[in-house]
Amino acid sequence: MEKLHVNLGENSYDIKFTDTFAALPDALREINAPKKLLLVTDTNVERLYANEVKTLLCDNGFDASVYAFKAGEEQKNMNEILGICAACIERGLDRKSMIVALGGGVVGDMAGFAAAIYMRGIDFVQVPTTLLSQSDSSVGGKTGVDFKDSKNILGAFHQPRLVYINVSTLKTLPPEQFVSGMGEVIKHGMIRDGAFFSYLEQNADSVKALRADTLISMDKINCSIKADVVMQDEKENGLRAILNFGHTIGHAVESAYDFKMTHGECVGIGMIGAAYIARKRGMMGGAALDRIESILRIYGFKTRVKLPEKEKVYSFMQNDKKKIAGKLKFVLPTCIGNVTQTTDVTRDEIYGALDYITERE
Ligand SMILES: NC(=O)c1ccc[n+]([C@@H]2O[C@H](COP(=O)([O-])OP(=O)(O)OC[C@H]3O[C@@H](n4cnc5c(N)ncnc54)[C@H](O)[C@@H]3O)[C@@H](O)[C@H]2O)c1
Repeated sequence: MEKLHVNLGENSYDIKFTDTFAALPDALREINAPKKLLLVTDTNVERLYANEVKTLLCDNGFDASVYAFKAGEEQKNMNEILGICAACIERGLDRKSMIVALGGGVVGDMAGFAAAIYMRGIDFVQVPTTLLSQSDSSVGGKTGVDFKDSKNILGAFHQPRLVYINVSTLKTLPPEQFVSGMGEVIKHGMIRDGAFFSYLEQNADSVKALRADTLISMDKINCSIKADVVMQDEKENGLRAILNFGHTIGHAVESAYDFKMTHGECVGIGMIGAAYIARKRGMMGGAALDRIESILRIYGFKTRVKLPEKEKVYSFMQNDKKKIAGKLKFVLPTCIGNVTQTTDVTRDEIYGALDYITERE
């Protein structure tokens, strides 16, 4: 089985890539997982996969039970965390027990946060089932919930003991969720790896046809890029912020659309906006901007969106919790495969980028 080691000292773990759940019991035994496991999932994933995984684990000697909360970002809150913790108590989980997060980024962030605080921290394993979680959120140890209109404002760093990726789960993913995940995948190529970006351009047909071997290769490169950044900066004191490429404008577009557009699609628009600013500054050539827009179109993204007046979108940016000393933080590309961080992007430059990404009648 393909695997990748994330080296974080005593918090190190493996990411395994496959196209079946069959090897999950062995992967858990390898990390000396306890018998008592709580599978945390959401109602959509429960319907599709919880029974299969629970039966597999129980048939292999684990004492596994399932706790599912209602699917959706709206459930990513402290009440639901308390629901998970209550299930941990009711099912008799102790300090040595383990939570298995089976689902997308919402499940991973919440199950991970519950694991971080239950009995001051128990182990957890990520079994991500969306492209976004397989390529991004399951790696890196950021866990948490939304609170008072702020995304991920409460949380903890809590690294998983294992990430087990079964790419065949992507076959049941709604198409818009696949596009959303591709936003983070393309972003990884843009920030660190021009060759991976070219791979995505050249293999678009097999990626979109969900060929298991292609998805495994793609997820592996992807996770290695994210893991490499996380290994150098586990707690986001510097380099890790490059993962926010596309997010400054992207988050504002997400707010403008009242979170009705997927996160990854907004990141795609945000990447175009940031690349436009870089091109206007002469940091990056026009051909690179064309390639960014072209790859996003190939994977089904909108490259222009209807936006409210610029002042309003700009005001959403002012709420960005990643501001430093009151200044907006931007990640700008210098070419396909490299970016730089800056806090000196002006309001006029942002307005220019918003004009550029606005859909005309
Ligand atoms: N921790 C991090 O580093 C990090 C990074 C990026 C994003 N995130 C977080 O991730 C979340 C978004 O994750 P997401 O896009 O996976 O959303 P999600 O978890 O809400 O999943 C999207 C939808 O797909 C459904 N689903 C999941 N797997 C499925 C499958 N295999 N088949 C059919 N349906 C399936 C879910 O039930 C849900 O309705 C956000 O809350 C975001 O803040 C965290």
